[in-house]
Amino acid sequence: MTDRVFVTRPIPEAGLAELRKVAEVVVRDAPMPPTRDELIAGLRGATGLISLVTDPVDAGVLESAGDLRAVSNFAVGFNNIDVAAATRLGIAVGNTPDVLTDATADCTLMLLLAAARCLRPGLEDVAAGRWRTWEPMGYLGQELAGKTLGIVGLGRIGSAVARRCRGGWGMNILYHNPRPLPDDERELGARFVDLPTLLAESDFVSLHCPATATNRGMIGREQLRRMKPTAVLINAARGSLVDEAALVEACRAGWIFAAGIDVTDPEPPAPESPLLREPNIVVAPHVGSATVVARTAMAARASANVMAALIGQAMPYPVNPGVVLRGGN
Ligand code: GLV
Repeated sequence: MTDRVFVTRPIPEAGLAELRKVAEVVVRDAPMPPTRDELIAGLRGATGLISLVTDPVDAGVLESAGDLRAVSNFAVGFNNIDVAAATRLGIAVGNTPDVLTDATADCTLMLLLAAARCLRPGLEDVAAGRWRTWEPMGYLGQELAGKTLGIVGLGRIGSAVARRCRGGWGMNILYHNPRPLPDDERELGARFVDLPTLLAESDFVSLHCPATATNRGMIGREQLRRMKPTAVLINAARGSLVDEAALVEACRAGWIFAAGIDVTDPEPPAPESPLLREPNIVVAPHVGSATVVARTAMAARASANVMAALIGQAMPYPVNPGVVLRGGN
């Protein structure tokens, strides 16, 4: 029987070329994510799935897909997938780490600079024809050189951001992680601190941890209150990490200087969300990995995961390594 792999939306074809040689690849040609029913219908008879962060691959979806053996998320994060259910059902789950690290670190700095230098009100004034003259007292932002960067989650992306800030602006690096990382401390001159200390001492706080069941709203009123009034918060990880109502309050009341976020919860925010009304909150449309190079490599990694699992081998980029795969080849 030929394997069939369902891809929920078009992704770079170059990355799918190898997969197409060994399986029938069905790419759902639509601009919006599938509804749950469409996802279930697309998985009928499918042995593989390439899913996106926008696709909730929950236990019910997985249970309905009796032939499915491989789910590969076209992303490094996989909070949209019920990994425990997949493991119980004998379905391998993979992701696409590393190849989007530089793109996402660059995006983090894009947001950091934009928020620190009041880019949003500036751009809006220019576009609306309100820019009348050089402003000696207008659009005054924060400098980066020699400042302190606090990284929450010093993994691949967090350390790439730290490296850029250390090398480029000579910043001091603080970090908070589940456990200290002595090698990174040496390389980055980073200091391990608890979250309250990181928030109180950092000029820039950047979030790089995965979304889990327990860290929803980990940056809320209490945490924002601890930050400096000149501080900038960056979130290019997952929207659920930040209590958005608290962030709006913090930016409006001047508890912090500004925020730059690439992710929201939900995505996109409702058109009437106050998040979109604050001039000192820069919101990007979840574009951390949106470069041609990164997205093409992500497609290749997602394909490689599926190809391995379909022949009963371990995925090269596994999320549930050691899963006992259901069915035979
Ligand atoms: C995108 O958000 C990813 O997790 O790769």
